[in-house]
Amino acid sequence: MFKFFSTVLFVSFMAVGSVATPIAAQSQIVFSPEITYPKANTIWTPGSRHNVTWDTSKIPYEKQGANGLVLLGYNGTESENLDIRHPLAAAFPLGDGGVTVVVPRNIKPRDDYFVVLFGDSGNMSAKFKIRKL
Ligand SMILES: *[C@@H]1O[C@H](CO)[C@@H](O)[C@H](O)[C@H]1NC(C)=O
Ligand SMILES: *[C@@H]1O[C@H](CO)[C@@H](O)[C@H](O)[C@H]1NC(C)=O
Ligand SMILES: *[C@@H]1O[C@H](CO)[C@@H](O)[C@H](O)[C@H]1NC(C)=O
Repeated sequence: MFKFFSTVLFVSFMAVGSVATPIAAQSQIVFSPEITYPKANTIWTPGSRHNVTWDTSKIPYEKQGANGLVLLGYNGTESENLDIRHPLAAAFPLGDGGVTVVVPRNIKPRDDYFVVLFGDSGNMSAKFKIRKL
């Protein structure tokens, strides 16, 4: 899993460019906050607005202002399909513990979506559902 996230993080740097740079820049301390929402029983609908939240208690003091990145993915047949071209949120301080996201209107309903929050590394939410209205 770590290797996977390293790869994605690298790709996301290329894709998101300036947004992602500050995430990588810093020291060796690796932290990937636990995502507290969405949860396994969460159901989102296209176009709806939500506050993705995470545990800030383990984020080192000097990293509270570091930029985070939230991507939406699902577990397809061959790989985790992370939508790195359309981040749900980017360039927000990790110390905030939450960031508002809007579910894309044209998204395909599935029962196995997850979000990944990138700090120095990535951590994945529980799988949750996106259903039609
Ligand atoms: C990632 O999240 C899980 C729970 O979803 C948590 O147990 C784990 O400690 C987190 N990883 C790090 C490095 O904080
Ligand atoms: C994704 O699905 C594959 C099988 O299709 C499975 O082997 C893998 O463990 C799944 N990964 C996650 C994170 O659920
Ligand atoms: C989102 O969640 C964070 C952490 O719980 C909180 O500080 C923030 O006020 C919330 N934002 C909104 C718009 O509810």
